[in-house]
Amino acid sequence: MRERKASVLVGVMVCVMLLSIEGVRAGLLDLFSSDGDRDTLPPLPPVPADYAGKHMPQSWWTDPKVLADGEKVYTGLVHREVNCSNCHGKNGQPKKKGARDLRNTKIVHRFSDSFWFWRVSEGVPKTKMKAWKKFLTEEQIWAVIAYEHTFSHNGQAVADIQTEVQPVAASGK
Ligand code: HEC
Repeated sequence: MRERKASVLVGVMVCVMLLSIEGVRAGLLDLFSSDGDRDTLPPLPPVPADYAGKHMPQSWWTDPKVLADGEKVYTGLVHREVNCSNCHGKNGQPKKKGARDLRNTKIVHRFSDSFWFWRVSEGVPKTKMKAWKKFLTEEQIWAVIAYEHTFSHNGQAVADIQTEVQPVAASGK
């Protein structure tokens, strides 16, 4: 009788363990895929007027020299205060909690070029994403954007930004 009780107890413990492992797994998954579906993503904030007219110089999305310069910015070789890969990982897979997964097309393909430029220049308030414009020239910012953009295209340079429409939030949030 006592043995039976003990085995029931072990069974219960195993179940609890499995459940908590599942909980941790779900939690981790949530952490890394919290960016979720396009449908559930909140609208992007509208690009401020100062930045709305900023556009990637023609042909830079796919220019090999620009991309090489962008990689240098990204990996901290241009300015030692600026190392995007410390948080965003070598290929866009986030290394720091909270950093966006720049490989995720659902996130990245919503960004217009002005949106990219605004965010990299001014950062995202109350996050580790700083305003990088104090260290980088406009050219360097465009270059690092062109380089980052390849992460959501399996490392290929693609000039498909026209389709990456940023829906403007009507509420002005
Ligand atoms: C210290 C860590 C850190 C560094 C270094 C960093 N970022 Fe970020 N970045 C973040 C975090 C955290 C977020 C997510 C902010 C948020 O919650 O929207 C982010 C978001 C972004 C976004 C998306 C913005 C948005 O509105 O969703 C882009 C694009 C980006 N970073 C580019 C860069 C570039 C380019 C560099 C280098 C010049 C860089 N980041 C350096 C932490 C970092």
